Amino acid sequence: MNLILMGLPGAGKGTQAEKIKEAYHIPHISTGDMFRSAIKEGTELGKKAKSFMDQGELVPDEVTIGIVKERLAKDDCKKGFMLDGFPRTIPQAQSLQDLLAELDTSIDYVVHVDVPSENLVERLTGRRICPACGTTYHVLYNPPKQEGICDRDGSKLIQRDDDKAETVKNRLKVNMEQMKPLLDFYQAKGYLVTVDGDQAIDAVFQEIRSQIEK
Ligand code: AP5
Ligand code: ZN
Repeated sequence: MNLILMGLPGAGKGTQAEKIKEAYHIPHISTGDMFRSAIKEGTELGKKAKSFMDQGELVPDEVTIGIVKERLAKDDCKKGFMLDGFPRTIPQAQSLQDLLAELDTSIDYVVHVDVPSENLVERLTGRRICPACGTTYHVLYNPPKQEGICDRDGSKLIQRDDDKAETVKNRLKVNMEQMKPLLDFYQAKGYLVTVDGDQAIDAVFQEIRSQIEK
């Protein structure tokens, strides 16, 4: 199964991706995660991406399309894949169509996790992540058993740089502008399914399951 997860920053794409990966055994390809690892490793890609991410702006299309192309060409994507945070612009969506045609495959579903934008500031500023294993928590909605500590490996949780209140506002603005034309693009192709992301994490997952298993 080839899936795309769409939704505004904080809608729950990464949270649902972890569950989908467990249930369907398809690789989770997050452009945001790829950029964050590149920054951590200090690579050229990381240097290019950092200034855009810190301001809540999008990384330029040519850079982003390049890394997705490389990733989708890997063997583990032959059994299916899940894209999270890509595409985010119409040129990215068009490049993806071309690339999938070259690979002789196509998209099955674009899952739009829909959450009213006014709820997202709280979701983003309350998010905490584990630097060791990548697990995502929320101080109110998905807290770890012990405050500030990862349940899985005991690491100290951190806040993403772009989850600081100053950056969150611009991220939401930029993404709201970009997302509408993309939803229209995929609606016209018949791939789009929308789930209510404004419910408990497990309820959102059940709704996704019922939509993609139709
Ligand atoms: P990226 O990492 O993709 O960030 P994003 O789209 O802003 O999305 P987030 O990871 O912030 O949110 P999410 O929807 O995954 O929410 P989560 O599940 O964590 O991108 C970062 C940056 O990289 C971009 O700004 C851009 O600069 C660059 N970039 C990436 N891709 C790009 C592209 N294609 N082109 C150009 N630039 C690109 O949940 C959020 C919080 O809410 C968590 O704390 C979670 O526990 C909680 N939560 C989740 N679900 C629920 C629920 N149902 N109820 C209550 N709380 C919930
Ligand atoms: Zn951890």
